[in-house]
Amino acid sequence: MWNFSPRSEKKERVDTTSLSLFNTIPYTMSFQRSSARALRAATKAAAQPTSQHVAKRSISMLSRTAPRVTMNTRATGVRGIKTLDFAGTKETVYERGDWPLDKLQEYFKNDTLAMIGYGSQGHGQSLNARDNGLKVIVGVRKGGESWKQAQEDGWVPGETLFDIPEAINKGTIIMNLLSDAAQSSTWPEIAPLITKGKTLYFAHGFSVVYKEDTKVVPPKDVDVILVAPKGSGRTVRTLYLEGRGINSSIAVYQDVTGKAKEKAVALGIAVGSGYLYETTFEKEVYSDLYGERGVLMGGIQGMFLAQYEVLRKNGHTPSEAFNETVEEATQSLFPLIGKYGMDYMYNACSTTARRGALDWAPKFKEANLPVFEALYKSVRDGSETRRSLDFNSRKTYRQDLQKELDEIDNQEIWRAGKTVRGLRPDANKDEL
Ligand SMILES: NC(=O)c1ccc[n+]([C@@H]2O[C@H](COP(=O)([O-])OP(=O)(O)OC[C@H]3O[C@@H](n4cnc5c(N)ncnc54)[C@H](OP(=O)(O)O)[C@@H]3O)[C@@H](O)[C@H]2O)c1
Repeated sequence: MWNFSPRSEKKERVDTTSLSLFNTIPYTMSFQRSSARALRAATKAAAQPTSQHVAKRSISMLSRTAPRVTMNTRATGVRGIKTLDFAGTKETVYERGDWPLDKLQEYFKNDTLAMIGYGSQGHGQSLNARDNGLKVIVGVRKGGESWKQAQEDGWVPGETLFDIPEAINKGTIIMNLLSDAAQSSTWPEIAPLITKGKTLYFAHGFSVVYKEDTKVVPPKDVDVILVAPKGSGRTVRTLYLEGRGINSSIAVYQDVTGKAKEKAVALGIAVGSGYLYETTFEKEVYSDLYGERGVLMGGIQGMFLAQYEVLRKNGHTPSEAFNETVEEATQSLFPLIGKYGMDYMYNACSTTARRGALDWAPKFKEANLPVFEALYKSVRDGSETRRSLDFNSRKTYRQDLQKELDEIDNQEIWRAGKTVRGLRPDANKDEL
């Protein structure tokens, strides 16, 4: 599901509904370099103008070598802050209508956004902020993959690209977009550089909320804020280029200036969000770790495997088992749930399907509830964090991860899936 082939990236460009629903990289999952490279290429490709692009504006303020990109309207819109009724609970939502480009640029006119790290989020957020006309620099370790990638995207060593300490020294808003494990391991060197007057920004509540494990304790005299895009940094970039914008959560951990929330909202828009929900660092990280281990990834893989296995044990062919488990779900039903909701699905299916689904849904809920309870507890008490930090800090991390990913790739269900996907009329027949 997360194996991005050039073909699927091409699809991402045209089918943005399926992009946001199914092609989003899991939050704390560090994807493989080859996939990252392929995604970069896709993002660049998506930046090419289409006939739908109406309000064109050339960009690339600070970079000399960055490709000039044209795009739809961004950081503009007609709606602003609003209180919305979410099924009986009122919540405040911030939209970019309140932050037109000139206001955004004026607000940050004395700031330098230092993006520390150039993975999925560093790439998307820095390019979006740069294209919004803000002063952005990137800080990564010299000689690493990110250093190379940043240059390919037009960041210039000594001008807009620096090693991490230098970028922090030059920046006023320090955006810590290193991997969560690296945020912890580099903190002893980074912390003394976050001096009074700077703002410390995260894209996840992880490091600060689990400070007993990560040892990331922000200095007392700086604002500490969060903008957590609800999707991959690649999606942050492609949705921005399409003039749409991802939804993100914002939160304030420490407000020294009295302006922390306003800054978080403005930065959320600056890095390419279309709208923002307010939360806390704790709620953001708990819900995020829980969701990706549950329905978004771990849970769905478990359900797929269990259903497929029973079909195979009962003599169904791999194609039939795959089609009835994954293909129909991803190609037909899940997009409808995304677009219209589950009630619509119940109305749209046959009376036979409806009766069965109505009867079995409560049984699945009952069977799953204890697993979800255990999962939430494991997130809350830090077990998931410790597991993630331990695993992702291993020297053999990349090889160990690859071994597990290869196992998934070799599962019969996903091997059958490759053949099924190859039969789709729009498929690249090479996959067969
Ligand atoms: N990915 C998502 O979907 C997503 C969504 C929302 C929020 N977030 C949050 O955004 C933050 C960044 O995540 P990400 O996925 O963009 O990044 P990532 O791929 O996890 O991290 C990549 C960056 O960390 C650097 N790095 C790793 N180990 C390092 C070390 N020991 N010293 C210095 N640099 C090191 C890498 O540099 P090198 O290339 O030099 O190794 C690279 O620039 C995290 O807090 C994450 O939870 C992620």
